[in-house]
Amino acid sequence: MARILTGIQSSGLPHLGNLLGAIQPAIELSKNPQNESFLFIADLHSLTTLKNGTERELYVRSIASTWLAFGFDTDKNVFWRQSRVQEHAELSWYLSCFTPFPMLANATSFKDKSEKLADVNAGLFTYPVLMAADILLYNANIIPVGKDQKQHLEMAKDIASRFNNLAGEDILVLPEPLIDERMMTIPGIDGQKMSKSYNNYINIFLPEKELKNVLKKIVSDSTPLEEPKDPDTDITFKIYSLLASETETETMRQNYLNGGYGYGHAKQALLEIILEKYAEPRRLYNYYMENNDELEGILKTGEEKARIIARGTIEKVRRVLGFGA
Ligand code: TRP
Repeated sequence: MARILTGIQSSGLPHLGNLLGAIQPAIELSKNPQNESFLFIADLHSLTTLKNGTERELYVRSIASTWLAFGFDTDKNVFWRQSRVQEHAELSWYLSCFTPFPMLANATSFKDKSEKLADVNAGLFTYPVLMAADILLYNANIIPVGKDQKQHLEMAKDIASRFNNLAGEDILVLPEPLIDERMMTIPGIDGQKMSKSYNNYINIFLPEKELKNVLKKIVSDSTPLEEPKDPDTDITFKIYSLLASETETETMRQNYLNGGYGYGHAKQALLEIILEKYAEPRRLYNYYMENNDELEGILKTGEEKARIIARGTIEKVRRVLGFGA
């Protein structure tokens, strides 16, 4: 049985890009009976950038509701909130004392921001150590992440082997990254990668009217309605094709090429397919957002399962470091 582990940052509302690029593939992977998926909401990591507690609470609930709405099986797998299992923070401290300064200084995620050091907090600098702790606490074998996280995983492996060497015992299991090179980049409404930071995202859980208004803002050129249009350079068409069947996509392609079909029509078709395809997840999402006690109950059960494993690792680590178990 392979133990798969992934953390999801909770610094914004989940959007179509997260859904197609990460959430749905991870749920597929978790359905394999050979796998056991450990999935947590990385709310401690979100503190490096997001300081507002009310917002954090909303994002955590909304991310948890999304995973449940898309059918993540929390009986078979383990699903929890990172901050509620204090062993994450505890192991992170121990590991930080085994992490050489230059390793962290070399992390791309840090280097990208190092021109404005005044804006870098120590949490952002040690972010990879907390991520290593997340992984090593659970003896996870496989860590599916996008290319941007590859370096962090190499660091986790490096930190684990340094720890084992210096402690003189093979306590921590070295994780293997599973880098998804195909990691889809989903275009946002302005054509750049869909991302919270570009504010170009589509939240598929919005009420119909609001969703319609977001889709209206998808950038298009000014070809008049009657004239033929190029589907391959159009953002609405690209997004539609990620959701629609091959036949539906082909029909829209022909409509573009034939002319007499406007971008407004394409946006209406996109709205309809989102409402139709995601009808059940939209219903379930709202259900969990409204039934917070039930959501909390699910996360609490997951937290208890996670804690048992995390404690096992912490006890070994504390013993070898001379802190007593
Ligand atoms: N840093 C990851 C991201 O931004 C989230 C994350 C935190 C994570 N801890 C993890 C991913 C452990 C995999 C394993 O996407």
